[in-house]
Amino acid sequence: MTDDILLLGQVLSFDADPFAEGIEAARHEARGGVLIRAGKVAEVGPADDLRARHPQAAVADHGNGLIMAGFVDSHVHYPQTAIIASWGKRLIDWLNHYTFPEEMRFADPAYATEIAGRYLDLVLANGTTSVVSYCTIHPTSVDAIFEAALARGMRVVAGKTCMDRDTAPVGLRDTAQSAYDDSKRLLEKWHGVDRLSYAITPRFSPTSTPDQLSALGALWGEHPDCLMQTHLSEQVDEIAWVKSLYPQARDYLDTYEEHGLLRPGGMYGHAIHLEEREKSRLLEVDAALIHCPTSNTFIGSGLFDMGAMMGAGHRVGLATDTGGGSSFSMLRTMAAAYEIGQLRHHPLHAAHLLWLATAGSARAMRMEDKIGNLAPGMEADIVVLDLASTPAIAQRTERAEDIWEAIFPTIMMGDDRAISATYVAGQLRTQGPAKSSTQ
Ligand code: GUN
Ligand code: ZN
Repeated sequence: MTDDILLLGQVLSFDADPFAEGIEAARHEARGGVLIRAGKVAEVGPADDLRARHPQAAVADHGNGLIMAGFVDSHVHYPQTAIIASWGKRLIDWLNHYTFPEEMRFADPAYATEIAGRYLDLVLANGTTSVVSYCTIHPTSVDAIFEAALARGMRVVAGKTCMDRDTAPVGLRDTAQSAYDDSKRLLEKWHGVDRLSYAITPRFSPTSTPDQLSALGALWGEHPDCLMQTHLSEQVDEIAWVKSLYPQARDYLDTYEEHGLLRPGGMYGHAIHLEEREKSRLLEVDAALIHCPTSNTFIGSGLFDMGAMMGAGHRVGLATDTGGGSSFSMLRTMAAAYEIGQLRHHPLHAAHLLWLATAGSARAMRMEDKIGNLAPGMEADIVVLDLASTPAIAQRTERAEDIWEAIFPTIMMGDDRAISATYVAGQLRTQGPAKSSTQ
């Protein structure tokens, strides 16, 4: 086989979930290699052994770089790329003031195409190889992100954002019927094409009528292999709003449950202020909670309780929530998760953070057999990290006594300059260090 590629460097992978099995579940090879064949990981092991057994492979020696699975960002809004880091609002005002006017611009397919390409290039430069994205209400915004992902060979999940209540502005509203019809058509067009999958996407209960939630619940019932993404209990004011709009509901989750929108494959963004009934139903169903730490501090939403959620056995992913989140970088996102963990008196180990940013998010997407780890048969989506990317990081890493001390400064202080290379399905997509930071 002449097209084999052998990456050499330090290699980090996981034998199991470190929350369940302890940090020994992480496997570190100080001088290791990853053999890539036909876009997939064929072997992972010691460098010398792989070199000796595969002399024909093209070698990419990353020296002391850390080779690991590409980052997986399990909750983003690509249409909010250009309004990231907008000042001074909390959730509902932030949506009305910044988000909805920007999402209206996606009525123009050329604008959607421009932002979709810009967004995916930014995330690749930050070492992220897969995302789960909301689009806007415009079907062409879905075509734009899938076309951009297809052109880059990326595994991307996305869906048309549905909103039919008068709580959403004129110009950003569909109907229960058109949301069903458009979502179904887009799902049939894109789901399973190359590495793409469709997620049924009611934005959140406050912007949908019960009829729309029911229509999308019915669509999910007809296509249970699709994911479903929405928002849940992000901010206290939002929960009060949901109560006023759905007076019969037992709690926020019930507004989804009553309409067929609680099943395995559900991805519930934020999920910070949950009641006991909601927690136990989410656990029973084995639905995914998506932690968006930079967003939760930036918009002032609250502190997700990772220790309690992982301790109880929830399925949890990690995400930027671009552009409520304040960074495209999963390094910065891990740092924020660590800081929130500290405020919750539950400091997350580097192994936990790296697992959440890769395998944890992949598990939330039910794609852990394809992405999020380095093991034979997995798709070769890979990031190579420079653990000494800036003088400040390098002087700290110099003192490191083990791999975790060597990597933690990059988690806490790293940005796109730490991304030496990003491979998508075995193909080199970006090579750093970038000249200027795009974090
Ligand atoms: N809740 C409903 N829509 C959104 C959104 O676009 N961003 C965030 N952070 N929360 C939401
Ligand atoms: Zn969101």
